[in-house]
Amino acid sequence: MKKLAPSILSADFAALAEDVAAIERGGAHYIHVDIMDGHFVPNISFGAGVMKSLQGKSELPFDVHLMIEDPDDYLEDFVTPQTEYISVHAEACTHLNRTIQHIKSLGVKAGVALNPATSLSVLDYIAEDVDMVLLMSVNPGFGGQEFIPSVLEKARELAEIRRAESLEFEIEIDGGVSPDNIQEILGAGVDIAVAGSAVFKAACIEERMREFADKIANV
Ligand code: DX5
Ligand code: ZN
Repeated sequence: MKKLAPSILSADFAALAEDVAAIERGGAHYIHVDIMDGHFVPNISFGAGVMKSLQGKSELPFDVHLMIEDPDDYLEDFVTPQTEYISVHAEACTHLNRTIQHIKSLGVKAGVALNPATSLSVLDYIAEDVDMVLLMSVNPGFGGQEFIPSVLEKARELAEIRRAESLEFEIEIDGGVSPDNIQEILGAGVDIAVAGSAVFKAACIEERMREFADKIANV
């Protein structure tokens, strides 16, 4: 089943619960939570407290994307009954296998995120341990950037590796997703698409969510 995970990085922080209610009414599958530390990426977003303020405000599971250096010390801050995934960047982890095992020991699904220029070969000795591979289709740090087309082929290659090796991780693509490119993206073997500005900067969030839902239904 193909899914949409709107990123609240582009939401109205002064009306976050209302924006989340709107994406839930519009059929979102996850709340994508972008945590940025100003070191791994050149921006600071928000901390676990903002995510926790949304607990119970919707039924939507949290899809947490940690864009932070050495995330091990912060993993537990993002574990809540509503947290389904915690993804960490391979580029930000000194001991990626240990971090992935740590996330799973907390009872949460573990994701590994790769920046656009990072090779799939980074997954060679971790692919069978992860529940999700998050492919960045923009350089991380900001919403509203253009989709990097080369990531589409990367997604196709990853889907082929998953098939050939009978692996079971979900594939998520994150950055620059819009109603114009989501069918091609999901058609490349992607399971979950993240959309931030295309959802929350739209004139009407619910209408845009319906537009996405129509496109997803016809992949
Ligand atoms: C970027 C974040 C993305 C971003 C997506 O570092 O990881 O999740 O918020 O926003 P759009 O869809 O506007 O590119
Ligand atoms: Zn993200």
